[in-house]
Amino acid sequence: MSAPETLLPGTAFAAAPSDALGAKAPVALPDSVDLDAIFADSAVKEVLDKLDRELIGLAPVKARIGDIAALLLVDRAREALGLAGASPSLHMSFTGNPGTGKTTVALRMAEILHRLGYVRKGHMVAVTRDDLVGQYIGHTAPKTKEILKKAMGGVLFIDEAYYLYRPENERDYGQEAIEILLQVMENQRADLVVILAGYKDRMDTFFSSNPGLSSRIAHHIDFPDYGNDELLQIAELMLGDMQYRLSPEARTALAEYVGLRRSQPHFANARSIRNALDRARLRQATRLFAERAIRADRTRLMTLEAEDIRQSRVFTPPLGLNHNEA
Ligand SMILES: Nc1ncnc2c1ncn2[C@@H]1O[C@H](COP(=O)(O)OP(=O)(O)O)[C@@H](O)[C@H]1O
Ligand SMILES: [Mg+2]
Repeated sequence: MSAPETLLPGTAFAAAPSDALGAKAPVALPDSVDLDAIFADSAVKEVLDKLDRELIGLAPVKARIGDIAALLLVDRAREALGLAGASPSLHMSFTGNPGTGKTTVALRMAEILHRLGYVRKGHMVAVTRDDLVGQYIGHTAPKTKEILKKAMGGVLFIDEAYYLYRPENERDYGQEAIEILLQVMENQRADLVVILAGYKDRMDTFFSSNPGLSSRIAHHIDFPDYGNDELLQIAELMLGDMQYRLSPEARTALAEYVGLRRSQPHFANARSIRNALDRARLRQATRLFAERAIRADRTRLMTLEAEDIRQSRVFTPPLGLNHNEA
């Protein structure tokens, strides 16, 4: 398709000779657009700023989301000038360890896509294999279709997506769910964005066994583990939201906690921090209650002390190494 001609105001609907290729009659199209105004109108900046403020670290993820937002804005601008709309494929994969922010970012992505007019509603439906795949023959298609119906107009987030595919089981119903997903991802991509999430290595294996699925994913985004400093900042952010604070000694204790927790089993990045803070709040409450003769002012009710952190099992040497302690 050739670029639309520049039209002078008032000449938009004047009959124009069709060109040699027999192009359609010209429509009123501007010859330029104000990208900055489109950006401002979309209110995407707010979401991107909020993403930046409320999520610690994740620089590469934030950059990729900025790129996707830019692509969609430029797409809008091209549409306004009558340039070919590519109707970009927006299905994504979010890979990374547990607690690295995948679900949180997917929610924000849904909001961005909505503000840019790519999905009607901007909600997110989060599912795992069990929500899509049935136990018996004939149960999978209705289950998958029901979920797809709920997710239409928004984002379908499939956590640990590789469980859909069980190569060891020839007659696994997961394959049926994948086939239905594939069709919808291709045919209804203007109204549904699918985000597949999970561990990077398992997702890579899953994609190599399911090239049809892989080829429909336009954006592969990797979520790195957080560093110790980032986890501490995340803790402060979470506490601030809940109107709690750390005493200086508690901050030192939490820094030690983060260093130790990382090397213990089931470490889950920011989620482990959230859980640790929940337990610290419980200990603080127990402490305050035991000392209830003391009047509790705001500061006292808000402050987590070092002992609230240090009572964690993380500070206790593993069982078996220390026979003298019961
Ligand atoms: N970068 C971050 N900044 C602040 N909080 C975060 C960040 N990443 C994750 N969290 C918080 O940690 C928890 C786990 O994050 P989540 O998005 O569920 O991780 P995942 O889906 O990768 O397992 C949530 O409460 C989330 O709000
Ligand atoms: Mg998650």
